Amino acid sequence: MHPGQTLALETSSIVAKHCHNPLALTGQLYPPAIEKTLPRRTCENARQAITSWANYAPTPLYSLKALASHCNVASVHYKDEGPRFGLGSFKALGGAYAVQTVLQKVLGEKIPGTTVTLKDVADSRYPEICSEITVVTATDGNHGRSVAWGAQRFGCQCVIYLHAEVSEGRQRAIEALGAKVVRITGHYDNSVHQAERDAKDNDWFVVSDTSWPGYTEIPRQVMAGYTVMTGEAMDQLPDNLTPTHVFIQGGCGGLAGTVCADLWRRYGLARPRLVVVEPESAACLYLSALAGEPRVASITAESLMAGLSCGEVSLVGWQILALGAQDFVTITDESVAPLMRLLAENNWGDQAIVAGESAIAGLAGLIAARADPQLSDKLGLSQNSHVLLFGTEGATDLEVYRQLVKQ
Ligand SMILES: Cc1ncc(COP(=O)(O)O)c(C=O)c1O
Repeated sequence: MHPGQTLALETSSIVAKHCHNPLALTGQLYPPAIEKTLPRRTCENARQAITSWANYAPTPLYSLKALASHCNVASVHYKDEGPRFGLGSFKALGGAYAVQTVLQKVLGEKIPGTTVTLKDVADSRYPEICSEITVVTATDGNHGRSVAWGAQRFGCQCVIYLHAEVSEGRQRAIEALGAKVVRITGHYDNSVHQAERDAKDNDWFVVSDTSWPGYTEIPRQVMAGYTVMTGEAMDQLPDNLTPTHVFIQGGCGGLAGTVCADLWRRYGLARPRLVVVEPESAACLYLSALAGEPRVASITAESLMAGLSCGEVSLVGWQILALGAQDFVTITDESVAPLMRLLAENNWGDQAIVAGESAIAGLAGLIAARADPQLSDKLGLSQNSHVLLFGTEGATDLEVYRQLVKQ
């Protein structure tokens, strides 16, 4: 942003609510309870597998200097997940990797006496057996695309459940990867339940990015896949720069939980303050933080931030966030298109960035907090703060992106 230029954004309308999490542990090293929830070994296995996939390349981390100056903070770094494996979002890391782990496990059960490795799955050593296995998930777009891509890559069948509001473009992208798509009426959470029921009836394997009591192992693998992104970001930050704050968007909380755990593991006592940012219309994590236990947000209208429009928290994500996320804020949809445009048009004088609807929530939270001295104080933000943001998607639906950016 050029000196003297004001942000073409009504910042007072961005943040709807804020809640501090009194249960968050402060001044503590990485807790064993979180290590148990997302073990180092599980994450290391994911890193080894994913970084050996064809075309693996770290996504860029940009230092947005003009934005930092606008926000009067010391630095803002933005991890741009748009180029991730040509799928457009960080979700490419989780679902596809979880498919690989499911196939490893199922093949091991079907071929007694053989130790099947993740590499065997990647190398398609057992194509006939794989082709008879079906993976299934519900999605608002990105996770399903990742699962479909994994199924195509590792040679199994795939069925993807979409709720009524998922865009046609996102459906086409999933079908182009060879998956069968089932449209249901209702919201995202209805599609999760439908996928689970149909999987039971058909002996399919649910590969969900959200978790619930009795179903945690596969979502844990999904989250382990996301740590490739967090690990890259921490490696890419300038030497000796430990972020003081992370503003991270929340859907079901799998992403935010991963970011919380992985940064805590690396930075220990110096871990950044984690601010979870959700749409006002689907603030299940915010409501859970207020209650001190999982709560459902009843969604009456889908947020423009499609990937964040979840009414039910992920159990595994919540278990981490309950101990680790200090703050939860909710934002309205109003800032979404203007912020996407600002990033696209390079209005601040920084790197121009293609950011999808769900990518900018963290940035929106930061901008709104810096425009509100009281909220800045509550979040401990100052001119000395170093902020890390995750731009979790690029233009995952080009038509929707163009419409929003051109307005
Ligand atoms: C682009 C994008 N960002 C963030 C999220 C939120 O992730 P989670 O549901 O794990 O909280 C999603 C979820 O689909 C997403 O697609």
